[in-house]
Amino acid sequence: MDFPGHSLPVRGVAESQSEMTELILPNDTNTLGNLLGGRLMHFIDLVGAMAAYRHARTHVVTASMDHIDFIAPVHVGDLLILKSSLNRAFNTSMEVGVKVWVENTIAGMHRHVASAYLTFVAIDSQGRRVPVPQLAPESEDEKRRFADAARRRELRQRELERKRAAKPAEVEVQGSVRPGRN
Ligand SMILES: CC(C)(COP(=O)(O)OP(=O)(O)OC[C@H]1O[C@@H](n2cnc3c(N)ncnc32)[C@H](O)[C@@H]1OP(=O)(O)O)[C@@H](O)C(=O)NCCC(=O)NCCS
Repeated sequence: MDFPGHSLPVRGVAESQSEMTELILPNDTNTLGNLLGGRLMHFIDLVGAMAAYRHARTHVVTASMDHIDFIAPVHVGDLLILKSSLNRAFNTSMEVGVKVWVENTIAGMHRHVASAYLTFVAIDSQGRRVPVPQLAPESEDEKRRFADAARRRELRQRELERKRAAKPAEVEVQGSVRPGRN
């Protein structure tokens, strides 16, 4: 999709950097007092969106979240620390990296518990996709993440194409769309 006439600023990674700290309460946990995986994904989505908003400065929707490894449990009473920043901007989409640590409130120890890559798509108030500012990586780490993000995008696109090709045709039934039976 072309967006003629758009001249957008170029932004640094620091402009998108975001952080969120959550105290884990009983409502966030399972019957053993461990943080629910779905709740952690919710926090990851939120802190990821913060970075995407700060970069794009428009509305954003989550297009995908890559697979997450839950490396260590998080317990009720722990502090969850989430950090996010932009890895790369494409046309209307952006890859954001999120890293999560747990801090034991008594011992003060930090431990890495999860990492994830999310893709957000920028939209206007009518829901139309809009181009995003490009990202200018500066440090060696930022440049490495920038290059890796392009490789991950290629893998995602290949997977999306494979899924689309495997999907049965959709048929129109009295104004609504339902999956076709082939
Ligand atoms: C995400 C969404 C906007 C993509 O729209 P689409 O019409 O499928 O768009 P396209 O296939 O033309 O792709 C548009 C951009 O999104 C990216 N994209 C689309 N699907 C993607 C996916 N699953 N993962 C990563 N990127 C994706 C494309 O690479 C493209 O990026 P680019 O503009 O930077 O080149 C659309 O699927 C949507 O609105 N999904 C629902 C989002 C939502 O509600 N999220 C909250 C969770 S409930």
